[in-house]
Amino acid sequence: MKVSTRLVFLPVTTDSAVIVHNLYLNCPTYIALIGGDMPTLNDIQRELETLRHDTRRQAVLLMQEGRAVGFLDYKVAYPDLHSATISLLLIEERLQGQGLGKAAVEQLEAQLRSRMNRLYAVVYGNNEQAKCFWERVGFEHLRDSGPTLSWYMKSLQ
Ligand code: ACO
Repeated sequence: MKVSTRLVFLPVTTDSAVIVHNLYLNCPTYIALIGGDMPTLNDIQRELETLRHDTRRQAVLLMQEGRAVGFLDYKVAYPDLHSATISLLLIEERLQGQGLGKAAVEQLEAQLRSRMNRLYAVVYGNNEQAKCFWERVGFEHLRDSGPTLSWYMKSLQ
């Protein structure tokens, strides 16, 4: 079922580690798909600490009616000054397919449009579902870098 929704982007802090970890725990199919181990809480804490030191990197919890339904990690002014790049959009598994991912991308585009010309999405692994998603929300496949990295791009102009 599709929902019409407005998400609140809540910046992640190191205090958000438990919430981010729970989102990963609630996405077992994605973790299996990319062939990794489920991150531990400690892994997430370290990642959020790394993120704090990179001023271009933005990570937000996607909040719907006061609860976290997803996570978005992107970097502004990357790979060039007028572009931003999404490295991960994660929607809680049981809520996928309801329009939340699309709403998150549309809201991010609206936020970035005045200062960025392009939005990239980098898909890791053999993630055909994600590739279909990026195309459905208007991104074009640019290139594959090696067998496990696919670049998608949408103009914001
Ligand atoms: N196969 C085909 N099309 C799909 C799929 C799929 N698996 N998932 C979504 N779409 C299409 C939908 O049909 C919809 O099209 P429509 O608007 O024409 O009806 C459109 O994409 C938007 O769908 P949403 O319901 O907004 O997608 P969702 O909320 O499930 O978010 C996402 C998509 C982010 C891929 C989510 O399923 C998810 O978190 N998956 C696991 C993690 C993941 O793979 N994230 C992406 C990694 S790559 C990166 O982040 C740069």
